[in-house]
Amino acid sequence: MARSVCVWFALAAIVCSLSAISAEESSEAKEFVLTLDHSNFTDTVSKHDFIVVEFYAPWCGHCKHLAPEYEKAASILSKHDPPIFLAKVDADDEANKDLASQYDVKGYPTLQILRNGGKNVQEYKGPREADGIVEYLKKQSGPASVEIKLTEDASNLIDDKKIVIVGVFPKFSGEEFESYMALAEKLRSDYDFGHTLDAKHLPRGESSVVGPLVRLFKPFDELVVDFKDFKPEALEKFIEESSIPLVTLFNKDPSNHPFVAKFYNSPNAKAMLFADLSTEGFDSLQSKYREVAEQYKGKGISFLLGDVEASQAAFQYFGVEESQVPLIIIQSDDGKKYFKPNLKADDIAPWVKDFKVMNLVMVIKHNEIYTL
Ligand SMILES: *[C@@H]1O[C@H](CO)[C@@H](O)[C@H](O)[C@H]1NC(C)=O
Repeated sequence: MARSVCVWFALAAIVCSLSAISAEESSEAKEFVLTLDHSNFTDTVSKHDFIVVEFYAPWCGHCKHLAPEYEKAASILSKHDPPIFLAKVDADDEANKDLASQYDVKGYPTLQILRNGGKNVQEYKGPREADGIVEYLKKQSGPASVEIKLTEDASNLIDDKKIVIVGVFPKFSGEEFESYMALAEKLRSDYDFGHTLDAKHLPRGESSVVGPLVRLFKPFDELVVDFKDFKPEALEKFIEESSIPLVTLFNKDPSNHPFVAKFYNSPNAKAMLFADLSTEGFDSLQSKYREVAEQYKGKGISFLLGDVEASQAAFQYFGVEESQVPLIIIQSDDGKKYFKPNLKADDIAPWVKDFKVMNLVMVIKHNEIYTL
């Protein structure tokens, strides 16, 4: 019997930890997904400009769930021009362990996009069902930034679900343009990029600008922000910071999940307010919470709002109950947890302030949950 140890990771995705023991072997014969192992991995990868590799374990439930979708995507993408190849490696096989650690495999499944014969590696951050995989990989195998020549090009690229970054330039050359394109290549698995000579094609923001300027479209908060510093570090920092919502929403809508993953990957302390988002009185709770988030912006705390409906696994993880909502948990940057059940809107500001004080004084013992 396979004993898989699956843990909530970043609340947005469940991954199975490497400590599990392998058992059953996958026996299904697959047609389009290439099977690779330590003996032929490097050789195969070096022949491809673009190839996707799934590191899986035979016992991992999420891998089994992905397998038919991955295979279907591989069959569709084999007809793409040029064909796009999908491969898999049994990372649980002792003989492939070195390969797995070389590709930073910390959970199953891990998918990596390998470019230029394996010289560039980027994590696959796309959907896990066939159509989504196909769309994401078509985009990933094309140019890192697409030119917006018409208003239609902009509406194809920019929607109300994701972050899209568009560079506006007087001409497609020069230092700023080069710097922008290099960053688009670097961050292409995280964001969608475009470039244009005419800001009037864009759906939001000042349309008379000629640039060089970077305009970031986001599905939350101020919806559009402009930036003019093209130094690579400054531009990357701007994109990272602008793409985090003031309050990250965690519900059943998968388009929010990349932002939830981002929230959990942040080095900040994390405030998590869980409530039933459909109840009356929730609005005042939310507006107070946003006020507090605004007040602590840039001060080392990130804020998340979770809907009870989507948060069962989180409740188990933190050992709290649905009857305690609205509830707030703050996990400090060193892992301590602070908890307050049955929260009222006016409690939020003083409680977060108490947390800041407590955290400063460090009177709290390690690894325990405290009710302030
Ligand atoms: C790589 O080697 C494994 C084991 O010998 C084999 O099953 C697999 O088909 C090979 N893959 C390719 C693409 O040659």
